[in-house]
Amino acid sequence: MYTSAPTDATPSEKRKAWTVPMLADAKRDGRKLVMLTAYDASFARTMDAVGTDLVLVGDSLGMVVQGHNSTLPVSAADMAYHTACVARGLSKALLIADLPFASDATAERALDASTALLRAGAAMVKIEGAGHKLDIIRFLVEREIPVCAHLGLTPQSVLRLGGYKLQGRDDATAAKLRADARAVAEAGAALLVLECVPTGLAQAITAEIAIPTIGIGAGPHCDGQVLVLHDLLGVNSGHRRPKFVKDFLAEGGSVAGAFAAYGEAVRSGRFPDASHSYD
Ligand code: KIV
Repeated sequence: MYTSAPTDATPSEKRKAWTVPMLADAKRDGRKLVMLTAYDASFARTMDAVGTDLVLVGDSLGMVVQGHNSTLPVSAADMAYHTACVARGLSKALLIADLPFASDATAERALDASTALLRAGAAMVKIEGAGHKLDIIRFLVEREIPVCAHLGLTPQSVLRLGGYKLQGRDDATAAKLRADARAVAEAGAALLVLECVPTGLAQAITAEIAIPTIGIGAGPHCDGQVLVLHDLLGVNSGHRRPKFVKDFLAEGGSVAGAFAAYGEAVRSGRFPDASHSYD
């Protein structure tokens, strides 16, 4: 007998396809969410087959696929193209796609870009930041577009931040991140990615908001985890490998095995451990 979301032990053909409301069920039931990035149909199909819950078409594609130094050059058209590719490979996983840099600068632009992503097959769009983005989250949610928020290290802010650095290290920035997390949840986001924040801060945020948190460099206490595909497979994308990255290919023995090993490690709480987290 299945509950509303698939489990590791559930054969692929019997698993239910993920829907947005099932995210809240997973948090309520204490089931860890396994998320990976994908940019094409074949990797997406392999992730789907091993039971990956959520697949993100990240604007990280600017760095790992297009070879740029940041995500800033990625366009809304790039995102729609890769989202359509990934959508063709999925039957069960929930597909989330990033709103790339400046495509969410105004509500109207965000609506246009989100419409294209949903038409390409996404079930949810991801938006970096809080501040003026809170109105945009509200605007999209009121128009039936599910939103995943993204706080902490937001790569689209790299110029202001001066690099890809741990966020929320001192009391003031930690308090601001906690307030932003509450605000994106109140604005209607259904999921929150926390990137590169200390373990204790991510744990506190996870405990105080009702929506699931997905960590990347945010310690083991988030409601789920995400890794970039190339990092999980140890592919050299020409960028520094952060501490939170783990290559699962050796452990898994094959691409599908690596995805499965990652899923098992997240669900069992084995990943991330202290060596892949920040104090
Ligand atoms: O673009 C991306 O791949 C992301 C993940 C790192 C969360 O935003």
